[in-house]
Amino acid sequence: MANHVRPKVDELNGALSTTPPAERPSSGWWRSHRSSDPAQWSLLDERLQFLAAFIRNPAAVGSLWPSSPTLARATLSNCDLRSARLVVELGPGTGAFTRVILDRLGEQTEFFVIELDSNSTLQLRRRFPGLHVVNDSAENLTRHVEKTGKKADYIISGLPWANMNPELQDRILDNIIDSLAERGAFTTFGYWHASLLPASRRFRVRLEKRFGVVRRSHVIWKNVPPAIFYSCRHPRVAQD
Ligand SMILES: C[S@@+](CC[C@H](N)C(=O)[O-])C[C@H]1O[C@@H](n2cnc3c(N)ncnc32)[C@H](O)[C@@H]1O
Repeated sequence: MANHVRPKVDELNGALSTTPPAERPSSGWWRSHRSSDPAQWSLLDERLQFLAAFIRNPAAVGSLWPSSPTLARATLSNCDLRSARLVVELGPGTGAFTRVILDRLGEQTEFFVIELDSNSTLQLRRRFPGLHVVNDSAENLTRHVEKTGKKADYIISGLPWANMNPELQDRILDNIIDSLAERGAFTTFGYWHASLLPASRRFRVRLEKRFGVVRRSHVIWKNVPPAIFYSCRHPRVAQD
């Protein structure tokens, strides 16, 4: 039996709003901004939710917009999620990557996400019924992975590394190394403009210290702002 419930895309579109349809006001601002196209409406809704999370905690969210489907697909392009035993997503936000991940999991793949923001956690649970959403910091990743009794084959991050201090980056990266299977892979994105800064070069050094292979992607222009991603393999501490 599958370890998660994978809702269909149409169901996701319908479930995206933070407010159940019956509870939504039928007039006023909410109604006048509502598109007749459910997919468009969901996009607007997702962006508003993301913006609200940014206003609540700009440093932890680190961006004004959710990632584009193009970035999510590109970042996951080298990940064989279908044959994975365990997949973990860090910092899912409104679920831009989550949605693409859910579409690609195998029947036997266990999947959970770790989100720090409690409001976003509630929204994710509503948007993806059946999804295991852990409301915690990625600093505690190892503890949650241990509960599954296996190591992660893929850890996919949407965390805002550029807004973290080096100590926090180290704590999370050490958790990632401890949680990955020997043949596992870690993938994370960053914004292209930030990748030109010294802090980003220092982050890459941190990755290279922990992984035998660190590959940087081409620029994904179809994202606001344009982004790059890193694919990291061969964690230096073999865990299996
Ligand atoms: C830039 S947003 C990315 C959201 C989504 N992955 C996307 O690409 O649209 C960063 C997300 O990471 C979450 N976050 C920040 N620090 C975190 C931490 N230490 N542990 C878990 N989640 C964290 C934020 O609450 C936010 O939802």
